[in-house]
Amino acid sequence: MNSTLNITVANLNELPGLAEPILRLYNDPKIILLDAPMGAGKTTLIKEICRSLGSTDNFSSPTYSIVNEYNYPGGKIYHFDLYRLKDKEELFDLGIEEYLDSGHYCIFEWPELVLDMIKIRYKKIEIEVNENIRYLRIINK
Ligand SMILES: Nc1ncnc2c1ncn2[C@@H]1O[C@H](COP(=O)(O)OP(=O)(O)O)[C@@H](O)[C@H]1O
Ligand SMILES: [Mg+2]
Repeated sequence: MNSTLNITVANLNELPGLAEPILRLYNDPKIILLDAPMGAGKTTLIKEICRSLGSTDNFSSPTYSIVNEYNYPGGKIYHFDLYRLKDKEELFDLGIEEYLDSGHYCIFEWPELVLDMIKIRYKKIEIEVNENIRYLRIINK
């Protein structure tokens, strides 16, 4: 059965303190999908998750590069933005299966194309924004 936890983020200052509990929730699955509209705060949340893992690497949105790689003391974080991908063929060309099998963190913005390639447990985070308050829905899949 899927579990769900709802978290309200009233402002940006709250996010650093919430990133770690969000990360550890549901026994810390290494695959995380962020499903939310443009501007909802996907990239911002991923940055805080990376910080909470202890990564000090330069962080940027991989909108043009599709995937960014960061180091943290426990290994690697692969941060994907699939917004510009047209089809699964491009995902395979990227080597998606190796990333998913790597055992490292794989965190996705715009995850629709990768959804049915994931064969293990993952965490899905949905974000809704209403009057600048973020409503996060964290689902154990
Ligand atoms: N929890 C939050 N509270 C207030 N502003 C936020 C929050 N999360 C993100 N933002 C702001 O929203 C804007 C879009 O964030 P971004 O992470 O780029 O969204 P996305 O990756 O979903 O398109 C940025 O200006 C960011 O600072
Ligand atoms: Mg983004």
